[in-house]
Amino acid sequence: MIVTIVGAGNMARGIGTRVLAGGHTLRLHDRTKAKAEDLATALREGTDGADASAVDADGAPDSDIVVLAVPYPAGRDIAAEWAEKLDGKIVVDISNPVDFSTFDKLVVPADTSAAEQIAAAAPKSRVVKAFNTTFAGPLAAGEVAGRPLDVFIAGDDEAARQTVADLVTGAGLRPLDVGPLHWARSLESFQLLHMASQERLGLNWSSALTIMT
Ligand SMILES: NC(=O)c1ccc[n+]([C@@H]2O[C@H](COP(=O)([O-])OP(=O)(O)OC[C@H]3O[C@@H](n4cnc5c(N)ncnc54)[C@H](OP(=O)(O)O)[C@@H]3O)[C@@H](O)[C@H]2O)c1
Repeated sequence: MIVTIVGAGNMARGIGTRVLAGGHTLRLHDRTKAKAEDLATALREGTDGADASAVDADGAPDSDIVVLAVPYPAGRDIAAEWAEKLDGKIVVDISNPVDFSTFDKLVVPADTSAAEQIAAAAPKSRVVKAFNTTFAGPLAAGEVAGRPLDVFIAGDDEAARQTVADLVTGAGLRPLDVGPLHWARSLESFQLLHMASQERLGLNWSSALTIMT
């Protein structure tokens, strides 16, 4: 698969590491191309034979999956701007639309989610919520306490959910397909609690949400 990640920050590094571990082609796009180039170089150095490169915005149409690894609402704005390019594409929204001024609520109303807003901005794309409950550090490592990370997956297109689940499995993680995109509301709220509890519980951003089976 060809996976394009938009953004070159912590999550682009974490997801990029896992995409390459699965043997896929990775393209990185950032508003500052040099940052995408630097990250591509670092990821190539970290994985033998890795196919990682920086691309301009016109890299998206060749991709099987486009991951928006930027803050919400930048992801929503990019989805709107790229709406035609994203026609038919699987778009993965990883965002946590947290109100960082209070750190106790989301910036999207309770009857929607960042993922649904992104889907509305690029209505011809197939939006899947994934990776929002995995912190960047554990993601790069692929595990916490010796257990592969759980990746919760929600989306209205079953085939798109399956493709993302296959990507997750290939990356050495465990996909948990929870069904339609409206479940992104719960995933975003759940992760708000996880984020807001880091200091109180002394977790140091190295924890992971899981379902024990
Ligand atoms: N960090 C985590 O552990 C974690 C876990 C789960 C989900 N997430 C979600 O993942 C997303 C990325 O988080 P991150 O931790 O990777 O953030 P980050 O390290 O700050 O990187 C953000 C990336 O987005 C770019 N960006 C920021 N504003 C932009 C804009 N208006 N237009 C275009 N590009 C923009 C940044 O470019 P510049 O460098 O030019 O600013 C950078 O490449 C967020 O939605 C976050 O909620 C994060």
